[in-house]
Amino acid sequence: MAEKYLDKIYGVSDAETQRALYDQWAESYDSELDDARYATPSRIARALKPLLKEAELAAPVLDFGCGTGLSGEALAAEGFTRIHGADVSTGMLEMARAKGCYETLTPLPFGNPDPGLVSRYRTVTAAGAISPGAAPASCLPAIFMALPSGGRLALSYNEKALEDEEYMNMLTRITESSEAVLEVSEDGPHIEGLGSVSRVMVIRRR
Ligand SMILES: C[S@@+](CC[C@H](N)C(=O)[O-])C[C@H]1O[C@@H](n2cnc3c(N)ncnc32)[C@H](O)[C@@H]1O
Repeated sequence: MAEKYLDKIYGVSDAETQRALYDQWAESYDSELDDARYATPSRIARALKPLLKEAELAAPVLDFGCGTGLSGEALAAEGFTRIHGADVSTGMLEMARAKGCYETLTPLPFGNPDPGLVSRYRTVTAAGAISPGAAPASCLPAIFMALPSGGRLALSYNEKALEDEEYMNMLTRITESSEAVLEVSEDGPHIEGLGSVSRVMVIRRR
């Protein structure tokens, strides 16, 4: 039986160990998540699409923390055609490349992404990517404040993030700032087989 990683990943806090774990998980990630009915990427894509003008839908979208590409596939299923993935794990990026739905795939350093990279996009998604066990809470303001005016960040917070003071403080700091409009905030199924929930949010930069 394939090794299960969903429980293990949340117990890891240092970035290098976490990346090694994602590299190891890459091959079995899709089957583990498919078996457990991972709902969040489709919820993000469905929440985001109606907010975008035709030109924004046709423009490149950055899928931050794209992993093996389940989030890119969900965007493609909703009609996004130019999807750019980025992730710290080369193992995950290799699996994403095989999906064929990404125009570009970029390896990232640990921590926050380069604001120069993010600022090229009007739309950034982060499905399951900003969370304990994944990217640090500081990525939320780092990505949001790099967006151009009118740009959007569509992201999810799982239960671990919703219960974590640092992640919630970063979220409040952004959503309550004069720079932000919280266009969507919906709680719903995250990994249905586990009965877990996530909050899907779309935040627009004024
Ligand atoms: C739970 S997976 C989600 C992957 C994909 N978005 C999905 O919905 O299946 C979290 C991903 O975040 C990536 N990650 C962790 N820290 C990161 C960072 N600082 N910058 C970018 N990606 C990061 C991991 O390598 C992993 O692929």
